[in-house]
Amino acid sequence: MARPAALVTGASRGLGARIAARLAADGHPVAVNYARSADAAHHVVQRITAEGGAARAYRADVTDDAQVAALVDDVRRDLGPVGVLVLNATGPQPKVPVDALDWPDVAQHLDFFVRSPVLLLRAVLPDMRRAGWGRVVHIGSDVVQRLPPGSSAYVAAKAAQRGLAGVWAKELGPLGITVNTVAPGWIPVERHADAAPEALAEYEAGVPLGRMGVPDDVAAAVAYLVSDAGGFVTGAWLPVNGGSTIS
Ligand SMILES: NC(=O)c1ccc[n+]([C@@H]2O[C@H](COP(=O)([O-])OP(=O)(O)OC[C@H]3O[C@@H](n4cnc5c(N)ncnc54)[C@H](OP(=O)(O)O)[C@@H]3O)[C@@H](O)[C@H]2O)c1
Repeated sequence: MARPAALVTGASRGLGARIAARLAADGHPVAVNYARSADAAHHVVQRITAEGGAARAYRADVTDDAQVAALVDDVRRDLGPVGVLVLNATGPQPKVPVDALDWPDVAQHLDFFVRSPVLLLRAVLPDMRRAGWGRVVHIGSDVVQRLPPGSSAYVAAKAAQRGLAGVWAKELGPLGITVNTVAPGWIPVERHADAAPEALAEYEAGVPLGRMGVPDDVAAAVAYLVSDAGGFVTGAWLPVNGGSTIS
């Protein structure tokens, strides 16, 4: 049976690209959203298509009301009603110590992790409500537990995103819609290409499972929550970090 369409925000690279590929491999037609990297997004689509999946790339700033509305209209027209929403896109994540922190630093993160999820959820909700089925997966972060210095704006927004997910899980459960959060630890992606080997080694030393995570670890967790096997799981906070935040 055909699986419902999945919209993955920020899927031109990093974790989103692997999540998109995995959902496509599991049979979902996938909307690969991006903001600027058209070539990278089209490359993701080409790989998915070459592997037998269905995908299309969609340019949209997911923090913008009008662009989100147009994005969801386009995906619905091309791929069908949206049944799976993966809230993954992020802007830059600079370290900013508290004495240098200005409101725009905070607002930038809130735009990605609160404003954008609200806009997207409201845009796809009619489809999920009509189907009596839906899967919403937030890509959170274990920084909410690790609290690294210099990241207060990012952590505050990620904590707010966690709050959204919990309340939405309660509100939308009766409609057959699950809402969960996958919370990665440090998973090196393209933007970490210049990470110092010492920083990687120091982080890895604190991972009980003894290795850095890879994007496919995150994609597998998302795939489980989206699958029928994950259908009785909602409101969950699932760290994907090799046990780094076991307490
Ligand atoms: N990687 C990690 O270590 C890690 C750890 C914990 C949590 N996370 C979380 O995982 C998620 C993905 O992180 P990542 O490391 O994979 O990020 P990334 O490699 O920097 O990728 C970010 C993606 O978001 C897109 N994007 C940026 N601005 C956008 C906008 N306004 N509208 C739509 N798309 C936009 C980018 O597209 P363009 O290239 O077109 O701009 C890109 O596809 C984030 O929510 C992040 O907080 C990551």
